[in-house]
Order: sequence, then C-alpha cells, then structure tokens
Amino acid sequence: MSEQLQVPRGTFDVLGDDALAREALERVARSVLERAGYERIETPAFESTELFARGVGASTDIVQKEMYSFQDGGGRSLTLRPEGTAPIARAYMEHGFKQRPQPVKLWYLSSFFRAEAPQKGRYRQFWQVGAEAIGSDDPAVDAELVVLLQELLEALGAQGVRLRISSLGSPESRVAYRGELQAYLRRHEDQLSAEVRDRIDLNPLRAFDADHAGTRAVMEHAPRMVDSLSAPDAAHFAQVRARLDAVGVVYEVDTALVRGIDYYTRTVFEFTSDALGSQSGVGGGGRYDGLIEQLGGPPTPGCGWAAGVERMLMASQQAAVAAPPVDLYVAAGEQGLQVAAFRLACDARRAGHAVRLELAGRSIKGVFKQADKVGARYVAVLGPDGVALRDMESGAQQTVDADTVMHHIRGGQL
Ligand code: HAM
Repeated sequence: MSEQLQVPRGTFDVLGDDALAREALERVARSVLERAGYERIETPAFESTELFARGVGASTDIVQKEMYSFQDGGGRSLTLRPEGTAPIARAYMEHGFKQRPQPVKLWYLSSFFRAEAPQKGRYRQFWQVGAEAIGSDDPAVDAELVVLLQELLEALGAQGVRLRISSLGSPESRVAYRGELQAYLRRHEDQLSAEVRDRIDLNPLRAFDADHAGTRAVMEHAPRMVDSLSAPDAAHFAQVRARLDAVGVVYEVDTALVRGIDYYTRTVFEFTSDALGSQSGVGGGGRYDGLIEQLGGPPTPGCGWAAGVERMLMASQQAAVAAPPVDLYVAAGEQGLQVAAFRLACDARRAGHAVRLELAGRSIKGVFKQADKVGARYVAVLGPDGVALRDMESGAQQTVDADTVMHHIRGGQL
C-alpha cells in the first residue's frame, strides 16, 4: 500500500464541532458588523505579488519570509493573500468606491496564508474576520472600529481580553522620529540582537517587538513615537481616546506597540487574551491613511482590523454548539421499498424538514440506533402496509399512510 497522505504542516481540516463553532462565530460577526453598516466583501485567494510588496511593505517579515508566491503560466508572480487590507484597498480603487458615500465600510471572513513556523495558535492557513472603513479620517471611525472588535470578542465570550492602543503619527512626523530612534539604537548597538542591529536602517521600529533580553532592556529607555507626534496627529489620538473613554472602553496606552505591517499611520491597537499562550494577539489593526496612495490611488484615509478565527475560538472556550436538529429519519423496511423511501425523504426535505435517509443498509435495530444518535425526532420505516412512524420523544408508534407522514410530523405528535 502506498503512503497515506496528510495535510501540509501548519494547515488543518475544518470539521465536526469546530465547523459548527465557526459557523456560530460567523453569525455573531455578521450581526455585530452589519448592524454598524459594514457590507460583506470577498476578494480572491491570490493577488499579484506586487500588491503585497507595495502594500504590506518590503521590510516586513510577511513580505521577506512568509509569502507563498508562485509564477503562473504567463510568467506573472502571484501570492496567496497573507492579509486582507491591501486586497480591499485594491478593490476600493478597482470598483470606483470613491464615488460612493464615504467611508465605504466592508467586512470579511476569509482564509489567509503565511509561511510561519507552526505552533498553537499560529498556522500557515488561518482565518480572519476583518473590518475596513475607507474614505474618512474622522477619529470616530477608529474608535467605532475598536468598539466593534471589543463587542465581537465580548459576544463570543473571549476570556482575559486586554486592549492596547498607540499612535504612530503620520509619515512626515515619523521621519524625524525614525532618525532619533536610529541614533539611539546605534549608541547601544553592542547590546542589541544581531537581527535588530541588521534592521536599524530598514525598520528600526521593530526593535520594540524583540524578545532578546539585551534589546528589551535598551528599548525600555528608547524614545517613543507618541512623544514626537505632530499637533494634528496628537489631536487625532486624543479624539480617539475621548470617544473610547466616553463609552467606557478600558485600554492601556502602550507606547511600545508596533505592528508587523508597514501601512499603519496614526492609531494602532491590539487585543490580546490571557487565555492564549505565547500567541496572545487575538486581533488588531489601525489606521492606514497612506496605503491607497502607496498602491497608485489618490490620497484616501482608511482604518480597520482583523482578528484570528482560531484564536478567538481558543480564547472563548464556549460550550459546544449543538448540531442542527433532525426532524425525520427515513428507511425502507423491506427490499423493493428503497425508491419509495428515497421519494419520501426528498418530499419531506422539499417541505422544509431536516431529513436523513438510511444509506448504509442498516437493520431495523441499526436504523433506530442511528436515528437516536443523530437526534432524529421521528423515524419512518416503510413497509408493505404503510409507514411505521415512531415519535422518538414519546416512544409512540403508529402505522400511517405514506402520504400522511408529513401531516403527522408537522402536527408534532402521533
Ligand atoms: P495581523 O496582526 O497580521 O493584522 O493579523 C490579525 C490577526 O490575525 C492576529 O491578531 C491573529 O489573531 C491572526 N493571525 C495572524 N497570523 C496568524 C497565523 N499565522 N495563524 C493564526 N492566526 C494568525 C492584519 O492581518 C491586518 N490586515 C489587520 C488590519 C486590518 N489592519 C488594518 N486593517
């Protein structure tokens, strides 16, 4: 026998209770986001590599190490989407969304792909719920988005949730700060990890993210972007916070908060859960006022977030979602009645009932055992003199005409 094949490392099948829990999560996400005016969007699973190189940023881990890129037959470089914001910015331009009333508010639940080292909570194909509001720089957009993600996590029953927020300012104010941070890092170069040292020129802010003890000690006293915000950026941050305060959102201003993507400007935020292990980030996002321009469009502000479906489920340890009910289980009691059983099952489904047809040739005893297992309310066994219909709840059984089965089960009692 040849070797049995398995899913690639860092990927998994979605089935059983997990599939039910995901459906329940999708219903909650839809309800939270559509109530706030977000419309569903789905973009392709792959896009041109250049979209992510330009959108996510050439110096990021995602673009440097984690993209699944390939050449198609026409020699174009394509990439399985590692995130959803750059594709949505592309869609905004492609569909002329600037002509619509602004901001355009979109939400998604899609799978994403990153070639990361797999571990608990970190996969190579994973799902995100995300929300993006494009076309307004109103601080209420940022605050509304934070509140919506908090509402979603609360509705899912996520445990030990904490929120950190910060502001990265606008690119202009960041230039001066970057220089200041680079000079500081160079002064302490001997205490930094090799990786951080190598990135002083390319991406000095990532030093805030390092695990390396020496680097962390240096970063404790490093200059912070929030202290270098321009007046308009500082005002925007204050206005976001005022709105969060007004609705009682609890957060910590974390001046060391950096995110692994280059498009962020001004507000950034991250929700973590104490119920998760080392991969504690359950969802995060921020403002990206330069992204659309970066992708060749006109200056257009935007803001959004994404939250990992697997991490939200892990953080919420909810009771298993019940499988949908089965109204009727249909079986032929004798050879020659299979077609009639098939017809009854199809008719009952057409009439709106949830129906299972016996498909494994079980004995009558086996049929009842299986019907009990799937939680069927009624069992119909076709015989030569009619249908033996049993109410599995009361145990009552009666032989009825095939044509009246639906009437009996709709009535709810035998
Ligand atoms: P991100 O922080 O890279 O942001 O990902 C958002 C969330 O996706 C994370 O908090 C985490 O829950 C989940 N996630 C990320 N990578 C993995 C993985 N390998 N395995 C499992 N879950 C993962 C973004 O993707 C931005 N597009 C968010 C955004 C939207 N910013 C503005 N708009």
